[in-house]
This record gives sequence, C-alpha cells and structure tokens, in this order.
Amino acid sequence: MSHVYLIGFMGAGKSTVGELLARRMGLPFVDLDAEIEREAGMPVRRIFETSGEEGFRAAEERALHAISEQPRAVVACGGGIILREDNRHLLRTSGTVVYLAVSAPEALARIGDVSGRPLLVGDAKGMATSILDARLSLYRVTAHHTVDTHGRSAEEVAEEVARALGSHEDRVIPVATDRSYEVILGRDILSDLGSRVASLLRPSSAVVITDAVVAELFSATVEASLAAAGVPVSAVLTVPPGESSKTWARAGELLDGCVASGLDRGGVVVALGGGVIGDLAGFVAAVYMRGVPVVQVPTTLLAQTDSAIGGKTAVDLPGGKNLAGAFWQPSLVLADTATLDTLPDAEWSNGLAEVVKTALLAGSDSLARLEKAAPHLAVRDEAAVRDAVEMCVRHKASVVSGDERDAGVRESLNLGHTLGHAIELLAGFSGIAHGEAVAEGLVFALALSHDVLGMPDAVLARVESLLDTLGVRRVDRRWPADEVRHAMSRDKKSSSGRPRFVLLEELGRSTVMEVDEETLMRALLAWSRQERRRA
Ligand SMILES: NC(=O)c1ccc[n+]([C@@H]2O[C@H](COP(=O)([O-])OP(=O)(O)OC[C@H]3O[C@@H](n4cnc5c(N)ncnc54)[C@H](O)[C@@H]3O)[C@@H](O)[C@H]2O)c1
Repeated sequence: MSHVYLIGFMGAGKSTVGELLARRMGLPFVDLDAEIEREAGMPVRRIFETSGEEGFRAAEERALHAISEQPRAVVACGGGIILREDNRHLLRTSGTVVYLAVSAPEALARIGDVSGRPLLVGDAKGMATSILDARLSLYRVTAHHTVDTHGRSAEEVAEEVARALGSHEDRVIPVATDRSYEVILGRDILSDLGSRVASLLRPSSAVVITDAVVAELFSATVEASLAAAGVPVSAVLTVPPGESSKTWARAGELLDGCVASGLDRGGVVVALGGGVIGDLAGFVAAVYMRGVPVVQVPTTLLAQTDSAIGGKTAVDLPGGKNLAGAFWQPSLVLADTATLDTLPDAEWSNGLAEVVKTALLAGSDSLARLEKAAPHLAVRDEAAVRDAVEMCVRHKASVVSGDERDAGVRESLNLGHTLGHAIELLAGFSGIAHGEAVAEGLVFALALSHDVLGMPDAVLARVESLLDTLGVRRVDRRWPADEVRHAMSRDKKSSSGRPRFVLLEELGRSTVMEVDEETLMRALLAWSRQERRRA
C-alpha cells in the first residue's frame, strides 16, 4: 500500500504534522516509535539501555516492514530510520517520502527537555549538530519531497506537505458507461493492483494475459500483488509481443488456456501490456463463458492515454485490422506511469502523437498546456507525463460516456487517422510507426480544416512545432496523391469508397465529414509535394 512517510530529524514535527495531515487526508496515523515501544513493551530510552542502538535499529526495521504491509496510512518515522539502506529502499518503494527539514538549534528549541532522547546525552547542542550533519544527505536521497519547517506552524507545514503530495497522489477518473468504472492513475501503483481487484470484484481467481516483453518486466509484481490480496493467479498466459499476436488463432489459444487454468465465471482476466494485449485480452474476456470481467493494466503510453479506456476490444483478420471484436468495458483500469520508464523511444513517440491529437480535440486550453509542458514531456518528466495521461484519459472518458458504442461523437477520436491509415497501408504496415503516420495525418487534417472550414493556418504551424519539441518522428516518404486517394477508399471506415475526415472548426470543436473530390485532391497534391511543410 502506498503510505505517506514523514522523515526528518527529531523535533522536525513529524508526529504533530503527521496527525494533522492524516486527519486532512482521511487516513489513519501511525507513529513508528510508538509501534516499536508497544512491541517491546518498554519506552525507546529503555530499549537503548537494554539492547543498545543496534537493538533499537533492528526493532525499527521490523516495525517498518510490518507497517509497510498494512493498509495505507500517514507514518511518522524515527529520525534515524534512514540509516539502514534496506529501510531507505523500503520507504521509497512502499510510499511517498516527505522530509521535514529543521536546523539543529531549532530542533533543540522545540524539543526542550532532552532527557528522553538517548542520542543527545551530554553536549546536546554539539551532538544534535553532528548527528544532523551526518544524516542530511541520507534524508535528501530518501525523500520524494522536502518541506522546510523553519519558522512555520505545524498547520502550515501540513498544508505544504498536502500540496506536495498532490503532485504525487493517485488520480481517480470515472468513466460513466452502462457499467461504470474508474481509471486509477499514479506512479508505483502496480503493487496496489491486488488489493484494488480484491475489494472491487472479490474474484475466485485471475488469469493474467500479457506479452513476453511485458511479462519479463512486470508479471512478477502483478502476480505477487494479486496473491498477497488473496486472489489466486491460476495462469499467466504469454503471447509474443506485437500486432502479429492480435489474431483469431491466438485468441483461441488464450481461451483454451483459460479453460485449462480452471477460470470460472467468478474469475477475472488481467490484461497487462500495451494496446495489443488490451484488445486481445479484452476480447478473450468478452467471449469467455459469455463474458468475464477484465481489468486493464496498460503499460504503453498509447494504451494509458487511449486504448485501455472505452471498452473496444478486437482481433485482426486477414482482411484487415480490428475486423472482429466486441464492446466490453473493463471493470477497472490501473495505469502506473512508472511502467512507462522502460518504454522504447519509438513506442513513446507513438503515444505522443495520440496525446497531441487529444489536445487538439480537447480545446485551446489543453493545447496551450501541452505546448508549455512539451519540453518536460519530451524527457519523460513525471509530472508532465502524468498531466498528459490525465488530460487524455479525461477526454476519452467524456467522449466514451457520450457514445459508448461508437455511433457518433467517438468518431472524432479518428482525427489524423484517415491519411494516417492510408500511408500505413501504402507502406505495407512496415517501416512506418503508427505514431509517425498519425502525426502526418494530424498535420494533413489541419491543412484540410483550413481549406474546408477556415481553421487558421497558425494552428498548423503550432502543431508542427509541438511535434518537433516532443520529438515525434515524422514520415519523410511521400506517395503520389492518386495512390493515397486510392488507399483511402480501401479503408474500412470509408463509406462506398468516399473517405470521411475528422476536421476542426476550431480547437476543441470537431466535425466528421466527406470532402469534395477537388478540394481533397488539391490538398493531397500539396501534401505529396510537401508544399505546406515548414522550411
Ligand atoms: N481499443 C482501442 O480503443 C484502441 C485504440 C487505439 C489503439 N488500439 C490498438 O492498440 C494496438 C497498439 O498498441 P501499442 O502501441 O501499445 O502496441 P503494443 O501493445 O504492441 O506495445 C508495443 C511494444 O511495447 C512493448 N511494451 C509494452 N509495454 C512496455 C513497457 N512498459 N516497457 C517496455 N516495453 C513495453 C510491447 O511488448 C510491444 O513490443 C493496436 O493493435 C491498435 O489497434 C486500440
């Protein structure tokens, strides 16, 4: 469980601030020293006298381990907790660590009577200064956030801690459909999966469906988390990575795997991976025993921002992509942004193109925010990543809620995809990443929006520059206009050979329409000759 740990020197105010913070956050408060005293049946001072500092540190380590496995709480830690490397690791991995900074003289002034402090016997001032000097760097490397307490009241410090935590807290985004569910977005929350699944569904067992790359990275954490929460994992079914696994045959093998594992109607499928796994495992869940719950655990930027939300599941057929599938809403989506740390640059770039698409659909504020965050997002800064994923999830949630079965407004999510699909088709689905094709398609859709709806050209220039800042790769290749036009007719989304385009009347206001042949061919010729590309 993801605790809030307060660390810092004695007198920093960990207990007082901790209690205020716990009340504010609606969480239990735990004083680790009090836990140690309760366990040992004697005060800290006596533990030092009978077992020495080493004995106390051992008891402290045991208490921290025990607390780390308890339900979420605000935990005030002893000043020396950071001395052991194992403790530092456990603190950082089982919660968010806040260092309350205080100087030695101020700490002493706050403590007053030092007789209960075994480390300060003798020259209290000298001891306090040298102990704090020795620990300072350890506090800093352990903390996710530092809050200076100098000259501030406990209430003021609690308020600043709450603010700092806000940037680290999980965000919960509801998706209102026939079967409503939540998207939980946060960092290092994969190990919370088991308790969330257990409390939501109380499943008889779970089958995890994943690909070989993702299995290597995250399957152990997911299995351990489910098992610890009392959800037996009856099988981890692994397919090779990539689109080639999204087939009817592979879905059949996975269904057989579910039968062999004994998964019953009270069980759950956990889809752990990118959009391929989300679509494939979602489809398996939709048809297994006429439907068992699926929990989506997306691990690519594209899946966290787009494919895991909305309940579209599918496999590809020899005749085309996503030609067989079902609408099957997940029971829960858990998006851990820490899983994105290992994502290769090419996959990152694929997701970024969809983020730009969403900002255009969400409106001018979203686009302006994304432009501001772009340099940070390009280097995967945590706060920027989380904001971008949240913007996309909120937008998709609102669109899906209004059009669960893809009969209207949801079509707007295809912005940039008409040209994008055509050039993927012309490239034979190799050598061009989906994100590159979408980026090109976005720029084309904006040019067409200008020609047909009078959308200002300046937006196009902004988007080209945004794509550059984000480092989204662009398609260099060009195909003749008539070949692109022909490929557009072959797209399954075109009605009787006439392609449909999502165009923008203005930022945040899209419309889906067919475009007259002459205008379309003129725009395609300009694209093909790169006439509109910036120098
Ligand atoms: N259902 C929908 O609404 C929807 C929407 C958009 C796209 N899609 C589908 O999504 C699919 C594309 O999804 P994708 O781009 O996520 O591809 P993907 O699932 O193939 O993942 C891309 C690659 O990244 C690897 N990977 C995944 N997570 C990783 C991690 N955390 N670290 C390192 N490597 C990791 C995978 O093993 C794979 O090789 C397509 O099939 C598309 O049709 C569905």
